[in-house]
Parts: sequence; C-alpha cells; structure tokens
Amino acid sequence: MISWERSINIKTPYEIQIMREAGRINAEALAAVVERVKPGVTTAELNSAFEAVQKKFDVISPFKNYPGPYPYPGSICTSVNEELVHGIPGPRVLEEGDIVSIDGGTIYEGFVGDMSVTVPLGKVSPETERLINVTRQALDIAIENMVPGNTTGDVGHAVQTFVESQGFHITRVYTGHGVGRKMHEGPQVPNYGKPGRGMKLREGMTIALEPMVLVGTSDTIVKDDEWTVASADGSLTAHFEHTVVVTANGPEILTQR
Ligand code: MF3
Ligand code: CO
Repeated sequence: MISWERSINIKTPYEIQIMREAGRINAEALAAVVERVKPGVTTAELNSAFEAVQKKFDVISPFKNYPGPYPYPGSICTSVNEELVHGIPGPRVLEEGDIVSIDGGTIYEGFVGDMSVTVPLGKVSPETERLINVTRQALDIAIENMVPGNTTGDVGHAVQTFVESQGFHITRVYTGHGVGRKMHEGPQVPNYGKPGRGMKLREGMTIALEPMVLVGTSDTIVKDDEWTVASADGSLTAHFEHTVVVTANGPEILTQR
C-alpha cells in the first residue's frame, strides 16, 4: 500500500533534541484532542482541535496529503471500534460506549513525532477495557525492549507473546517503523516475530512503536474509503503508539509532554 523509505538514519544528539521537541508538541496536540472526546463530538471536530494546536506552534502534520490511494485528507487518524488504523476524520458522531484510536503526527524543524492513543467514551464493557489495557501494556513491553543489541524480532516476539497470552490478536500487515525526517523510515518493527531475527537496534535509532490489537482475528480489511483499516470480523481493536529513541541508557519516549 505505502512505499516506505527503507533507509535507517541514526540520529545525532542534536537531531534527537529536535525530535524531542516535535514529540512534545505532538503529545500536547493529541492531549487537546483527547480532552474533547465525548459523546456527540464528530471526528472532524477532533481533527480541527488537533490542527488548532498545531497552528499555535506553527507546525503541520505529516499525515496530511500522505500518498496512498489518494492523498490522506486528515491531520490525524480517527479509528472507531472495529476500525484499527487510518480512519479518516469526518461527520461521524462518537457515541457513549465507542472506543476511538486517535493517531497524530507533527513535523517540527523537519523532524516527525508520531503517536496514538485509544480512548473509551464513557462506560465500556470490562472486556473492552481489558483490550485497551492490554494494548497499552503491549506498547510498554515494546518500549522496554528498545535497547541496543536487541533485534526488531525480539521486540515483535515480546509484543506478540504478551498479546496472544491475553487471548487477543496482532495484525501481520501493519507495523511500527523508523521515523525521523520522514514519517516512515527503516527499520520496520512488526508486532510479531522470532527472537534474534530482524535488525539489531543501535543507539540513535528513532522508532515509532505501535501495537495494533484485535479481539477476534488478526485479519483486516480496507473499507470503501480505501484508507480505513478494520478487523475482518468486525471485532473491536485498539492501537497505541509512541516515538522512542534507543540510547545507551535505555529507551527514551520522545512523544511526551
Ligand atoms: N501513525 C500512522 C503510521 O505510522 C499514521 C499514518 S496515517 C497516514 O502509519 F495517513 F498518514 F498514512
Ligand atoms: Co506510526
């Protein structure tokens, strides 16, 4: 679907400082959106809230016009319930009991921050709450594994083992990715894999980790809008993402306030 720039770019401390700033602004814009997630709000209004904060910081989203079946129209992705990723903001009204993944990106001084959270609207079932918690924990596990010498396979294996032990499923199609001057750089970081396989992590690598978890199946479909990815069986899904840098002292999350 998307052709990625595969090159792996090791960042200098100066570049990491810029990415820290990109990530901080991105986290702030995303937090403003999360505050507005209430029954009755449309996903287009959430997109506008994100853009309003970006305007204040004089930054833009790398999602806007991202090449695909047609240029991506939003600054964020809003993926509701069975929608896993790449949901397009629009007239849809969010309702009590929905869960929505909000995925936002920011380009600051030429560098990208990429982050997402899944938020429940009001009261959701205990099983839905468990899905959200497991996905958030899966991201924590991925982050813990971002140490020099580990491989992308080690990261994927840890995520997959945990998620499947909880009875949920991981997509095989969509993955985490290097991030820097481009939103998608190498290496690809699948949320499944075998220990020791894949690419060795090195100090200065900046990676967007993003476990995408499905309740009933690992299979996905693409909806008629040609962007929105949903579970093939209509079951609920969740998605969390952080941009993280590998350092000698362990992982550092760049997308935080
Ligand atoms: N965080 C997502 C990703 O890493 C967002 C991309 S949406 C797109 O792929 F529309 F910009 F492609
Ligand atoms: Co991403």
